[in-house]
Amino acid sequence: MLKATFHLKTFGCQMNVYDSSRIVELLNSFGMKEVVDEANADVIVLNTCYIREKASAKIFSELGRLYKLYDVAGKRQPVFAVLGCVAKAEGENIFRRAPYVSIVLSSQKYHLLPELIANAIHDVELVSKEKEEERKAKKEIKKKYKLSHTMNTELSGLEKFDCLPQSTKSDKVAFVQVQEGCDNFCTYCVVPNTRGREVSRSEESILAEIDNLQRLGAVEVNLLGQNVDCYNGIGEDGKPSSLAHLIKNVAKFDNIKRIRYTTSYPSKFSDEMIELHRVEPKLMPLVYLPIQAGSNEVLHKMNRKYTREQYLEIIQKLKDANPNIQISSDFIVGFPNETEEDFEKTLDIVRRVKFIQCYAFKYSPRPNTVAAKMEGQIDNKVKADRLRRLQSELRKSQDEFNKSCVGRVMSVLFSDVSKTNPKYIIGKNEYLQPVIVPADASIIGTICDVEIESASYANLRGKLV
Ligand code: SAH
Ligand code: SF4
Ligand code: F3S
Repeated sequence: MLKATFHLKTFGCQMNVYDSSRIVELLNSFGMKEVVDEANADVIVLNTCYIREKASAKIFSELGRLYKLYDVAGKRQPVFAVLGCVAKAEGENIFRRAPYVSIVLSSQKYHLLPELIANAIHDVELVSKEKEEERKAKKEIKKKYKLSHTMNTELSGLEKFDCLPQSTKSDKVAFVQVQEGCDNFCTYCVVPNTRGREVSRSEESILAEIDNLQRLGAVEVNLLGQNVDCYNGIGEDGKPSSLAHLIKNVAKFDNIKRIRYTTSYPSKFSDEMIELHRVEPKLMPLVYLPIQAGSNEVLHKMNRKYTREQYLEIIQKLKDANPNIQISSDFIVGFPNETEEDFEKTLDIVRRVKFIQCYAFKYSPRPNTVAAKMEGQIDNKVKADRLRRLQSELRKSQDEFNKSCVGRVMSVLFSDVSKTNPKYIIGKNEYLQPVIVPADASIIGTICDVEIESASYANLRGKLV
């Protein structure tokens, strides 16, 4: 048992959020307690993101800030552990840039964290006891952790699941990782480097996790993967499975009322999934299908393996199968050589598809990616202008959809009391829009029908029916 406290900060995507929740359970199972106070922890764990330059720069400024916090207060420095995508991408560089960091661990290996923390705490104590030995001991520590970072590089990313404790509590909305890594190598993206090649968990392992979570109260499950359509684990019959096959089995749990999956890749979206959206009522009618850009030239340079026409065709098929389906997406503006005409095609796609929730980013050149070395990098001013124009177009279509909900009866999973007025309860509908109703807190955790009475850009309001 480790009698130490830890403070964990999570950056990046839902994958990291999921990993962090498993890390908390793991450290708890070793007797460590999570603390909210970042200035009073024995161990500081940062679960990091490398996707854009800002995201990774933030990690180093955060490390510096936290280090100073203890330094200024004259306290003993905590053990600093850097996990996640920056850990994988920057590796030992982190020890150079932030010498007080003692643990660097990629997402594939976070199950090794308790052991590394135990060693680090022991060594930090040694260091503070024996001043004259300090320099030598520190050197030893560095050697050890550098070693632990590199020694298991052949781990596939799935082995950690065998080492994690079962969850002992669950939120109403549970996230479950089904697949990890990416083989698509979009020319701008670091994920194939930070998360490695695609690997899928077995259905048996995923269904056991969901079974446990639904017994603990989960009513909605979100199946996570960088490339969730490429899920190809082993089914319960020992044969290769697919995302649709897995979802059909998840739908068999009576307590699970809603199923989502994130993130899809357009050309990997199968007819089997389209059919499932026609027949499976538990499958929520919001499909998160990032297009990135509306111009075929840009898509080609991004190494996205579909055209705008093919993208529109998938959406048409989905809407034919289930007219309630709505689409959300990610966009990148200012990819190298993107012309004004190319960009207009992105705006055109937005006008056609009428996406309901999107993320749009300025292209950020990343180390060791093909696009970063391309000629024709776009000026930041142009990127900023395109981002603003795209966001205003996206806002219009989201606004339009929100307004079209007025008068409809929607199903809402309630989760929180309103912070501004405790007489109001907040939940999410089928499309993940926040819905606010006057009600008693007893409805929290249940799914109720709500008649929508008004809509703004940010949320919907209505009454229970
Ligand atoms: N696997 C998912 C998304 C993973 S990353 C997919 O293929 O769609 C999340 C989003 O970050 C991407 O959809 C993309 O829009 C954005 N992104 C990735 N790399 C980026 C970069 N170098 N610059 C700007 N945005 C980027
Ligand atoms: Fe990155 Fe492309 Fe893989 Fe998505 S599909 S994670 S954008 S390489
Ligand atoms: Fe960031 Fe890694 Fe996710 S780079 S977006 S945390 S997969």
